[in-house]
Amino acid sequence: MPNPFSPSQFQACLLQWFEQNDRPLPWKGEPDPYLIWLSEIILQQTRVEQGKPYFLRFKETFPTVFDLAAAPEDHVFKLWEGLGYYSRARNLHATAKRIAIEFDGVFPSTYENILSLKGVGPYTAAAIASFAYNLPHAVVDGNVYRVLARIWGLDVPTTSTLGKKQFQALADQLLDTAQPGQYNQAIMDFGATCCTPASPKCSTCPFQTNCVAHTQDRIQELPVKKKKIKKKNRYFHYVDIEFGPHTWIEQRLHKDIWQGLYQLPLIETPQLSTNWKELINTHHLPDWLQNQSFKVLRKSKIFKQTLSHQHIHAIFWRIQLSEAPLVLKENFIQIERKNLPKFAFPKIIDWYLSDNALYLNV
Ligand code: ADE
Ligand code: SF4
Repeated sequence: MPNPFSPSQFQACLLQWFEQNDRPLPWKGEPDPYLIWLSEIILQQTRVEQGKPYFLRFKETFPTVFDLAAAPEDHVFKLWEGLGYYSRARNLHATAKRIAIEFDGVFPSTYENILSLKGVGPYTAAAIASFAYNLPHAVVDGNVYRVLARIWGLDVPTTSTLGKKQFQALADQLLDTAQPGQYNQAIMDFGATCCTPASPKCSTCPFQTNCVAHTQDRIQELPVKKKKIKKKNRYFHYVDIEFGPHTWIEQRLHKDIWQGLYQLPLIETPQLSTNWKELINTHHLPDWLQNQSFKVLRKSKIFKQTLSHQHIHAIFWRIQLSEAPLVLKENFIQIERKNLPKFAFPKIIDWYLSDNALYLNV
């Protein structure tokens, strides 16, 4: 790590900032784990300012876990209205019932047991465990990724497995185990109000002189999220040739997808045509079809297969040759249709071959 901060220096600086910038929130300092859990479930769903009135209404209506457990589901939904994603409200209610009935109303008090509650992931479990029981679990969420990535110049993507591990390790190392609750609340608030995504308040930030992102002018590039690779679209017209019991296939030998697999003769075009006339007018017929007489019997629906870097869109055209060709193309292999299953095809061709119901009349 290039940053000169030791964990205790970081903690001291952060907690000092927090003392001066603590914002009053209705769940802060709340000792009741049930109410802490309630606030965290609401905050999964909305921002702090919008979450406040919801928290206060829930707290007033259901002051204990027994009140929430005993409520009709409709009542819970009504109070939840506007937060959206009703499965969270349903989980909240189910968890309240479980705590009331299975645990006699006693909220779980270890990290693992808190994590086992429906709707509670590692972040929420760390928040509850540290706020309610001062257990040493560091919260790691988008705010924390941003703060750590910027101050330490940690540029491994937060979305990668390696990145998640490194951020978690750094977060664990930085946690003030003497006061984990206070520390977690401080880093959350710091990320939410000072080191904000678009325009962090670096000029009043206590980390200004040590922060790698600030000193190296890399705020916009940190944290690094994995670039979404833009997948390329490719449009394939497969020609399913019929002549008596025979058909033709070829092996894919080019350095491209599906190298080594077999396929029906292929015409690749820059756009998909769902009309044969349009297809041959817009894109020249390949040489091997030009001197044949044939008729188009049927076409398939459009098949789509997504690979790691491309989307394949395919239509299959069933054509019938009027007379036996001498040679269609030198690498084409003439086989009996019943032998098709002996060859290895890409999935998209298998889908077509295994479902004749997918034919449409042309
Ligand atoms: N976001 C999630 N939990 C929070 C909390 N306890 N305080 C502020 N923001 C939060
Ligand atoms: Fe965030 Fe700016 Fe502070 Fe660095 S100096 S931690 S970028 S607010």
